[in-house]
Amino acid sequence: MRLLAHLSDLHFGRTDARVVESLLADLHHHRPDLIAISGDLTQRAKSHQFAEARQFLDALPAPAVIVPGNHDLAPLYRPLNRLFRPRAKFHRHLPDHEPWPVWQDEEITVIGLDSTRHLRWTSGKLRSIHLDHVDTVLAEATTPVKVAFLHHPPAESPSGHPFEALAERGVDLILTGHVHKAHAEVIRANTGQSCVLVQASTACSTRLREDANGYGLIRIDMPEIEVTLRGWSGAAFHTTHQVPFTRTTGEWRPRKGHVTPPA
Ligand SMILES: [Fe+2]
Ligand SMILES: [Fe+2]
Repeated sequence: MRLLAHLSDLHFGRTDARVVESLLADLHHHRPDLIAISGDLTQRAKSHQFAEARQFLDALPAPAVIVPGNHDLAPLYRPLNRLFRPRAKFHRHLPDHEPWPVWQDEEITVIGLDSTRHLRWTSGKLRSIHLDHVDTVLAEATTPVKVAFLHHPPAESPSGHPFEALAERGVDLILTGHVHKAHAEVIRANTGQSCVLVQASTACSTRLREDANGYGLIRIDMPEIEVTLRGWSGAAFHTTHQVPFTRTTGEWRPRKGHVTPPA
């Protein structure tokens, strides 16, 4: 069994200090094995914002794997930096974090994919570089569970869901952010393979869209993946949804989801 925490869109530089403090307390209470952060650690990729993010990372109760988000690249109003050194501050402030991290233990393989593009601001795309990387890592992976995480949920195309390519490669679980909205579903490829997709809200920033601040606690205990969404109530984080998935005859399916009362 592994307990994975999925955080996204922290946006240091535009955070609510009470939420940050409470988020850390909630993570320390639940003690996940690993924390996957799917990008947008900062608001404008400024040094002091990365320094705040660094401080947050140092206070986490478990190892973290991180991919950059579009807000972590040099901003477009600094065109030379954007063009030639888009990830310079990410590397300078987080030297111990690769933008394409791989985590492996006896139970899970977790692959981080950098979906940011220096010539675009918001849109990300799953490209051959991502799929080739997944192929390379999974060719050596012997763990029963495979997880991929990236910042952007690519837009759906008429030819199907863009994450089908990850399901076809044997990925069980995909974690994304960027849209600041929590969501969990099964993605099914034409080939019959499937995976669970979990999208996170913004963990601690004031850049709220439809959802309150929140993050995911994901319990992986094959053949089950249970997604618990922890949301900010205004005073603390509590469970807002618990969505269990199960793999039967090689296919991921949702079990009956339900809303649980605040804990
Ligand atoms: Fe964001
Ligand atoms: Fe983003």
